[in-house]
Amino acid sequence: MTYDKEGEKFSLSPEQALVFTREGQPACMQGFFQAIVSQYETHEKAVKTFKSGKGRPWSQQSGCCFCATDRFFRPGYAANLVETWIPALEGVESKLHAGAKIADIGCGHGSSSILLAQAYPKSEVHAFDFHKPSIMEARKKAKAAGVKNVKFSVTKAQSFPGKDFDFACIFDALHDMGDPVGAAKHIRKSLKPGGTFMLVEPLAGDTMTDNLHPIGQIYYAFSTTVCTPASLAQEVGLGLGAQAGQKRLTQVLNKAGFSHVRRAAETPTNMVLEVR
Ligand SMILES: C[S@@+](CC[C@H](N)C(=O)[O-])C[C@H]1O[C@@H](n2cnc3c(N)ncnc32)[C@H](O)[C@@H]1O
Repeated sequence: MTYDKEGEKFSLSPEQALVFTREGQPACMQGFFQAIVSQYETHEKAVKTFKSGKGRPWSQQSGCCFCATDRFFRPGYAANLVETWIPALEGVESKLHAGAKIADIGCGHGSSSILLAQAYPKSEVHAFDFHKPSIMEARKKAKAAGVKNVKFSVTKAQSFPGKDFDFACIFDALHDMGDPVGAAKHIRKSLKPGGTFMLVEPLAGDTMTDNLHPIGQIYYAFSTTVCTPASLAQEVGLGLGAQAGQKRLTQVLNKAGFSHVRRAAETPTNMVLEVR
């Protein structure tokens, strides 16, 4: 803040105002600050986990961590998903407008699922997450938004129910999974022939040095106390981390049987991969 002694006034520069006060805009960092607070809340557990090298289930984070994650990611999805990301995928937008069966896996509080259901009212969105409190929160949000074409279920990504999906997506969650290859394999089997999988992951380069800038450092820090332990706590425990990068993600997707991986879009925080 700037303090003007003469006028006795505090003020924020436009840049500071954007970061601290513009709730709902992608550059507003309040969701991230809330995420930091969530880590101090359970600081001792985080230190113990780090020293042991063992996992820490997603469910053992503090409640505020789940809200913060949603608050951090939602503005980016609201600004880009319908306007930019879906149109950047080959042949997907027209299917969603006509009425498609969509799977949103690792949906958390359901912001992406609700945005899809609202934008494509003829489509049905089946949203899955293994964290029951998040699914309960997502159901509340859908009810408050009056959205009827979305259904939330508690289930693992490696075994969610349903077949013949036209479109599957994962938003910032594949790297949190213990068995991302298993999850991607299950997605491949659940898609209709010709279906598309959209993988949204944190933007990252392929080497650690590519990621040593403020956004990469934010991701590495959060990955150290949240994402990597969450993956290590699950079966397989691959521990991709929040800065896996396209090359490593492509290896995972190829291992799951997908042969086509193309970067369809990116923002300063996310990359969007078209996978078939
Ligand atoms: C970082 S959050 C992202 C949530 C949401 N997609 C978003 O963008 O706000 C990661 C989510 O993945 C879920 N998750 C992690 N491993 C999972 C698994 N094996 N099966 C289903 N969900 C999983 C967590 O419960 C959590 O909600």
